[in-house]
Amino acid sequence: AERMDLFGVGTLLADCVPPENLSIFHPVSPGGRSIVSLSILVLAITGGILLVVGTVLMYCVFRFRTKTFDGHEPPQVYGSVPIEVAWTAAPAMIVFILVLVTTRTLWEVEIPVPEPVVGDNTLFVTVVGRQWWWEYQYEYYNGQKLGFTTANELHMPVSEASQQRRVYLTLKSADVCHSFWVPRLAGKTDLIPGRVNSMWLQTEQPGLYLGQCAEYCGTQHAHMLLRVNVESPAEFERWLQQEASVALHVDEATITRGREVFLGLSCINCHAVRGTGAKGTYGPDLTHIMSRATLASGQIPNNRENLRSWIADPQKIKPGCLMPAFGLSDKQLDEVVSYLESLR
Ligand code: CUA
Repeated sequence: AERMDLFGVGTLLADCVPPENLSIFHPVSPGGRSIVSLSILVLAITGGILLVVGTVLMYCVFRFRTKTFDGHEPPQVYGSVPIEVAWTAAPAMIVFILVLVTTRTLWEVEIPVPEPVVGDNTLFVTVVGRQWWWEYQYEYYNGQKLGFTTANELHMPVSEASQQRRVYLTLKSADVCHSFWVPRLAGKTDLIPGRVNSMWLQTEQPGLYLGQCAEYCGTQHAHMLLRVNVESPAEFERWLQQEASVALHVDEATITRGREVFLGLSCINCHAVRGTGAKGTYGPDLTHIMSRATLASGQIPNNRENLRSWIADPQKIKPGCLMPAFGLSDKQLDEVVSYLESLR
C-alpha cells in the first residue's frame, strides 16, 4: 500500500489493486514484454561490468597497497598496446551489442498507425494531454466511425488468441508536455505541444491497469492519473454504445432544476453534455460522467459526496486546477449534483 501512495492513488485503490499494477516487471502486452526482456538484458550486462570492475579495483587496492611508505614511488608503467586495444575494443563491442538489442526492441514496439479498415478489429483513439487530465477522442472501431469524447478512464477490448485487437493511440497536447505511461501495457510516450506522437496497446488479459503522467507538467502532475479498463469485446461494445449515446433528459423536478442551474452557469463554457446546449471543450466531457469510477483524473472515487465537494471547491481537492469555485448555494449544489448524477 505504501508504494501505491507514492503515486497518489493511496486509499482509493490500495484495497482493490495489487501493487504490481504499476510495475514494468509484470507486463501483460507484447510491447511490455519486449521492454522487460531488454531491461533485464541491459541490467545483466551493466551489472556484470560493475561486478568485474569493482572486483578488480578492490583486489588491486588491497593486494598492492603498501603498509610502510618509504618515500619512493613504486615502478610506473607507461604504454601497453595490448591493454589499450583491449579496453577500447571490449567497450565498443558491448556498446554495439546494446545498440543491436535496443534497435530490435524499438522495431518491435514502434508500429506506425495504419488507416482504419472495416473488419480490422482495431480501435483508434486520440489522446489529448491537458493540465491535469486526459481527454480521449474515440475515432474508429472495427472501421466504424465513432466520434465521441470522454476523459481519464480509457476502455479497450481484450485481444484474444483467435482475434487480435489492437488499439492505436494518437497523442497530442493542448498545453505543455505530458507523457502517457501505463507500465504493464507499454512504455512511456510523450505528448508534445505542436507534435503528433503515436503508440499502440494490445493485451490478452482483461482487467484494470493503472498509469500516471510521466513528464513533469505543473503543480498537479502527480495527480494526472490514468486508468485503462480492458474488457471482453462484448462488454467493450456495450460501453461504446452507451458512451456514443446523447444524454437522456430525465423528467424529475430536482434534476430539471439542476439542469437549468448547470446550463445557466459558466459550467458550459468548459464542459460539454451532448444533446444539450453545453458544448465547452476546455474541461472533461460530462455526457456520461457517472460511467466513470473516479473524478479529478483518478484522484477521488466518483460518488455524490465527492462530486459535491469537487464542485463546491475544486481548488481544495486539486490546488491549481483550472476549474474555479462558483460560490453556489447549498441548494444549487444539491440540484447540480442531482443533474450530473443522471448522466449515466
Ligand atoms: Cu501531465 Cu505530468
